[in-house]
Amino acid sequence: MSSMIDIHPTDTAPAGTAPHAGLHPTRNGVSADVRAALIPLLNQLLADTVDLRSQIKQAHWNVRGIHFQPLHELFDGVAEVLPGFSDELAERVGMLGGAAAGTVRDSATASRLAEIPGGLLTGNDAVAAVAERIAFVTNAVREGISIAGEQGDEVTADLFTEIARELDKQLWFVESHREG
Ligand SMILES: [Fe+2]
Repeated sequence: MSSMIDIHPTDTAPAGTAPHAGLHPTRNGVSADVRAALIPLLNQLLADTVDLRSQIKQAHWNVRGIHFQPLHELFDGVAEVLPGFSDELAERVGMLGGAAAGTVRDSATASRLAEIPGGLLTGNDAVAAVAERIAFVTNAVREGISIAGEQGDEVTADLFTEIARELDKQLWFVESHREG
């Protein structure tokens, strides 16, 4: 008896294409080709967001000067939004049949962020360093919206849109503290 609903997992490669070894079988309607293309992007952004949080916490701890208190609190506010996004990126990897690579070591290896300067930071230097790193991640996530959209995975595009919308706001908050 035929059914209107295809109950078979979609993790089968079309004829002539390589199978996607390592993808967990799923009934998710996103094709295996698209899932295989988006999982590395999601894991890259996972690594970047884990690293971004650690670097912003470093600025939270090490900023000095007359504006210590507002900057200390500002940076903590940015850092607080990031674990939720890392979690959503990692879980999207899982929904697409992949394995998340989200340890601190994974992040240190894969993150594309430059390391924040060590030692104590003036207010302006801390604001610049944090803004530069938020902007990098925000713009990488924004690129991801287009990539996921072109691949036809609107749900991943929507997740990236949600993250970019919040990080755009956080970047505005941080850049608004720049003086001179
Ligand atoms: Fe703190």
